[in-house]
Amino acid sequence: MRILLTGGAGYVGSACLRWLIKNGHEPVAYDNLSEGNAAAVPGERLVVGDLENREAIAEALRSHGAEAVMHFAAVASVPDSIADPDTYWKVNVVGTKNVLDAMRDCGVRTLLFSSTAATYSFDNPMPLTEDAALVPQVPYGTTKLAAERLIADYARAYEMGYTFLRYFNASGADPDGEYGEDRRSESHLIPLILYAATGRRDKVLVFGGDWDTRDGSCVRDFVHTDDLAQAHQLAIESLEPGMGRVYNVGNGAGHTVLEVLRACEEAVGRSVPHEIVERRPGDPGVLIASPERLKSELGWQPRHDDIRDIASTAWQWTNRYPKGYASKTGDSRSMS
Ligand SMILES: NC(=O)c1ccc[n+]([C@@H]2O[C@H](COP(=O)([O-])OP(=O)(O)OC[C@H]3O[C@@H](n4cnc5c(N)ncnc54)[C@H](O)[C@@H]3O)[C@@H](O)[C@H]2O)c1
Repeated sequence: MRILLTGGAGYVGSACLRWLIKNGHEPVAYDNLSEGNAAAVPGERLVVGDLENREAIAEALRSHGAEAVMHFAAVASVPDSIADPDTYWKVNVVGTKNVLDAMRDCGVRTLLFSSTAATYSFDNPMPLTEDAALVPQVPYGTTKLAAERLIADYARAYEMGYTFLRYFNASGADPDGEYGEDRRSESHLIPLILYAATGRRDKVLVFGGDWDTRDGSCVRDFVHTDDLAQAHQLAIESLEPGMGRVYNVGNGAGHTVLEVLRACEEAVGRSVPHEIVERRPGDPGVLIASPERLKSELGWQPRHDDIRDIASTAWQWTNRYPKGYASKTGDSRSMS
């Protein structure tokens, strides 16, 4: 299938792009490289463009002969979304409308959307099923839910088909150690731990040591990017106009932040400096997916569901390329 991946130079999008190539599809990335990396996209498969440009998206769809879209491009930091909702509504909602309008312009009628656990109310019982109440607590989640609603409205009116994949914590790296997580401004737990391990950061902060969990730190559900990619492949291959489906993508097992720290320390072979600080606004104590619908309806079978395996693939990438893609290509870029 010929597929356009918005955000295809980003962490999850590029992992999906490479997975799709391996599995016989023809993907191209459409990305403004604000956070993504050209070197994450193999071959001549990158179109540099912004979500604000509907014509450029349509041109990318036409020139690739795209039959489907996977829409990963977004801004996705919880604290930034609280400080700057303007950008979050523009990119995540207006940007999604531009993708949908470009698809209509070109007669492309199937869309996979990267949604998030942040669309749910954190008061729901865990693990979260797809029927749990949707009450986002932060602007990032609000804009992602608004984009879901927009897509569903378009699909109903214009005979499109969609699947929302609500990811939990995307993690890990390419098992060959050649590709991994590398953003300009990093806020995700595992890369931050590994940066503290290599001295790129002084230490990693653990937000809250007094949650009602096994060791007082937050519990999250970590899912490897190759397992996420497998979910995308299964979903796109079975998606048709007229369909509207929602799946959680997580392992169904929670790990505390301190357990993840230990798994990373085991992978690295030494202790990692860390400090337990106050809870962060908007964070829930426990967030775990029920992946049962994805397993039973699409036959999803995660292959990297052990947190030690996730930590070890992430470490293999960070150890080989301590400054991410800049270490591979020689480019310099600012990182925080
Ligand atoms: N990483 C996670 O744990 C996680 C969890 C839940 C949901 N998600 C969702 O998955 C998707 C991908 O996340 P990621 O972790 O790969 O993030 P990422 O930042 O690595 O990738 C996002 C990509 O979108 C591009 N982009 C951003 N704004 C753009 C714009 N205006 N025009 C064109 N391109 C633009 C960036 O350059 C980047 O390559 C996002 O939609 C995110 O909300 C991620």
